[in-house]
Amino acid sequence: MPTGPSTASAADFIPASHSLAALRRAARNCHGCDLYLHATQTVFGAGRAHAPLFFVGEQPGDQEDRAGEPFVGPAGRLLRTTLQEVGIAPDDAYITNAVKHFKFIERGKRRIHQAPKRYEVKSCRPWLEAELGAVKPKLVVALGATAAQSLLGPAFKLTPNRGKLVAADIAPHVIATVHPSSILRAIDDDMRRRQLLAFRADLMAVAGALKELA
Ligand code: URA
Ligand code: SF4
Repeated sequence: MPTGPSTASAADFIPASHSLAALRRAARNCHGCDLYLHATQTVFGAGRAHAPLFFVGEQPGDQEDRAGEPFVGPAGRLLRTTLQEVGIAPDDAYITNAVKHFKFIERGKRRIHQAPKRYEVKSCRPWLEAELGAVKPKLVVALGATAAQSLLGPAFKLTPNRGKLVAADIAPHVIATVHPSSILRAIDDDMRRRQLLAFRADLMAVAGALKELA
């Protein structure tokens, strides 16, 4: 199977020092795939080294691309509110994405999000691995299918396994849940309410698992 238009990967840009500051600095110049060509900037993870929780989203959106920070738009607001509701302190959560550049198509003045291809997720994975190595979290949370598949492999099925503690090569303790933007896209208020309750239940499982692992 072709891996995509190029065999480049972020691996060629990982610096000798794996401190978070060195990684963040080096990621600014990553050309590991073509997504850097049109995005404003690399959006690296945010949070402290040794945070016990490590959240992985898909890729920065329009607002994140402009701000240079992950999860600062509507999906991020929903994530932070829900974390607060289940008693997870913001300082305990390192937040990053499977892919560090915004992928979009232009429609007039609007930039419409496009899902990254599997080879783009693979090209960017060395950054995720390096961040995991620097933060060494107790528990990793995959937000949505792209993150889950980067962390747990392409065979992982989100729906039957969401909210459950699973083991992976990349991290010993992983819980996958939906992406908060899927809740924002719910077809009506009733569905949104239900999806929000299920997301909150998954994050309560995260808070519970973290207490057990601490
Ligand atoms: N969605 C993501 O997956 N990541 C972000 O940083 C913002 C929105
Ligand atoms: Fe590098 Fe990832 Fe950006 Fe591709 S998406 S250029 S691999 S940082």
